[in-house]
Amino acid sequence: SIKVNNVMNKPRIIVTRRWPAEVESVLKEKYDAVLNEEDVPMSPAELQTALQQCDVLCPTVSDKLSADIIDVENRRTNLIANFGVGFNHIDVDAAQANGLAVSNTPHVLTDCTADLAMTLMLMVARRAGEGERHVRSKQWTGWRPTHMMGTKLTGKTLGLIGFGRIAQAMAKKAHFGFGMKVIFHDPFQPQQAAIEAVKAKACASVEDVLSEADFVSIHCPGGEATYHLMNADRLSAMQNHAFLINTARGDVVDQQALINSLRSGQIAGAGLDVYEGEPAVPEQLLEFENVVLLPHLGSATRETRVAMGMRVIDNIDAFIAGQSLPDKVV
Ligand code: 8YV
Repeated sequence: SIKVNNVMNKPRIIVTRRWPAEVESVLKEKYDAVLNEEDVPMSPAELQTALQQCDVLCPTVSDKLSADIIDVENRRTNLIANFGVGFNHIDVDAAQANGLAVSNTPHVLTDCTADLAMTLMLMVARRAGEGERHVRSKQWTGWRPTHMMGTKLTGKTLGLIGFGRIAQAMAKKAHFGFGMKVIFHDPFQPQQAAIEAVKAKACASVEDVLSEADFVSIHCPGGEATYHLMNADRLSAMQNHAFLINTARGDVVDQQALINSLRSGQIAGAGLDVYEGEPAVPEQLLEFENVVLLPHLGSATRETRVAMGMRVIDNIDAFIAGQSLPDKVV
């Protein structure tokens, strides 16, 4: 059940999912907070009611806020303070057209998401998921020189699709920690200092990255502009020994095309944290030993999830004080 704190004269804030306890206690203290203790996703009708009853709505990636939800009559909400940096689940054009402000939580999840991309890259290269399944299923018969040989990272080329905050953090970890070369494509010119810091090579196109990279890691936002950016043609432009890592959004990759390219051996494997149509994961993906599958864990550390919640609170407080949003989306 949804718990309502009847505190008069405080802004009413509705949080759509369970947040870390320390953040929820700050919410309860500062605001008339409506929390979702059972953590069951809200239906479209419940989201509309929330927009009618609360001053601020705090959604996450699991809440689809389409134009027809945002356009609800008698809306009370003036701010959508998103828990998460990605906001492709929110129709920001509809929000803007309705004079509704939107904020997100950048910076605080950069390192942890980059760490998870590194985790996937290491796991898929060193066959860690496969090895773990091997031990747990009691199939291991002992050490031998040719057992589960994987791929070495050091000296290899990491190709980044997008060179924003998370890609730059991954580039540092890969370059300084693992001795990898870094190349990237980003249609928005990143700062020269960030490029020089890791001696990265800027490529003129996605294809230029794909033809050279041993590991391709996706770091662009989700949404219409990047929908199926990794389509069948681009997957076939990857080298046969290359691996694809996705910690961005599922629909940046044409998932069926990925399944086809894994099946035909066009690429060597994939490490995925995000999927088209989450939380559904196609049965066909589960069958590949050379694919590592994680349940959207990019930002899932205690430290980062608390920091994300606090960042939402900073945005709410600025909004209430009539100041500009620190993390303004619209
Ligand atoms: C979040 C994410 O956990 O912030 C993002 O964009 O993908 C994850 O780190 C999730 O999206 C929360 O809304």
